[in-house]
Amino acid sequence: GKVAVLMGGASAEREVSLMSGTGVLNALRSQGVDAHAFDPSERDLVELKREGFARCFIALHGRFGEDGTVQGALELLGIPYTGSGVMASSIAIDKVMTKRIWRAEGLPTPGWFEVDSAEATRKAFAQLGAPMIVKPAREGSTIGLTKVATLEECDAAYALAAQLDTAVLCEQFVSGDEVTIPLLGTGAQTEVLPVIRIVAPEGNYDYQNKYFTDTTQYLVPCGLPEGEEAAIQALVRKAYLTLGCRGWARADVMIDAQTRQPYLLEINTAPGMTGHSLVPMSARAAGISYEALCVRLLQSAAL
Ligand code: DAL
Ligand code: MG
Repeated sequence: GKVAVLMGGASAEREVSLMSGTGVLNALRSQGVDAHAFDPSERDLVELKREGFARCFIALHGRFGEDGTVQGALELLGIPYTGSGVMASSIAIDKVMTKRIWRAEGLPTPGWFEVDSAEATRKAFAQLGAPMIVKPAREGSTIGLTKVATLEECDAAYALAAQLDTAVLCEQFVSGDEVTIPLLGTGAQTEVLPVIRIVAPEGNYDYQNKYFTDTTQYLVPCGLPEGEEAAIQALVRKAYLTLGCRGWARADVMIDAQTRQPYLLEINTAPGMTGHSLVPMSARAAGISYEALCVRLLQSAAL
């Protein structure tokens, strides 16, 4: 039947979503799928039902797409969709809620404070030390994130993050290797793909370097000792299952350069599928083409 690729949306990551969605749409069409673009910020989701769409591929990022809202609407409409369900989506979009759950389950995540003012941000800085990450709890693609080096930078960092979300967190910065790990599947069938190590210019893997420059290096195979890679894969599998994720996701992890301890930063339940994105890159290293990945994800669509 007809497939809708949900893309665009109303979040700050709209531009990224349009790139992801276009890639997915073309890939599905090339495999003979009757796929159509659908932007929920321009059209009512109820039209999906009226127009007879059988399944949805969610290529939306951020709020109003990756956060359980669209998933809830599709549940009500009875249209199967890719990726996590309502609960895991709404937990994973929120970095604070995610960290609380991981911490409660004994999974390693950097120390943090939730803050609601510039003053609280400065207080957090005094506790966590430099550098400190200040970011909106529910954004993606590094939007609204500041790496704070001095007390003086706290106010502007808070103001920027607070522009994007009512919930802001200050997080201890882990200095070391930045890695990202895609996961495919659900429950006991969950498969962890190869770890990618990211080497960004001056360690700055920001929005620009994520999508628009070619100066970031992506290492897959990641070059970490085999035991370390396997331990990280086991950790992110636990992190994924703990949140109740399904279908697919990508976990972001920092490895402390001194202790070699991996720390979970977050899980993206509708990760990027752009030409620069890392799930496709890791899948390719595992012998799964972009087209095959899209078809496989679509086949995993569920309610
Ligand atoms: N939030 C972006 C799309 C990602 O995680 O890939
Ligand atoms: Mg993210």
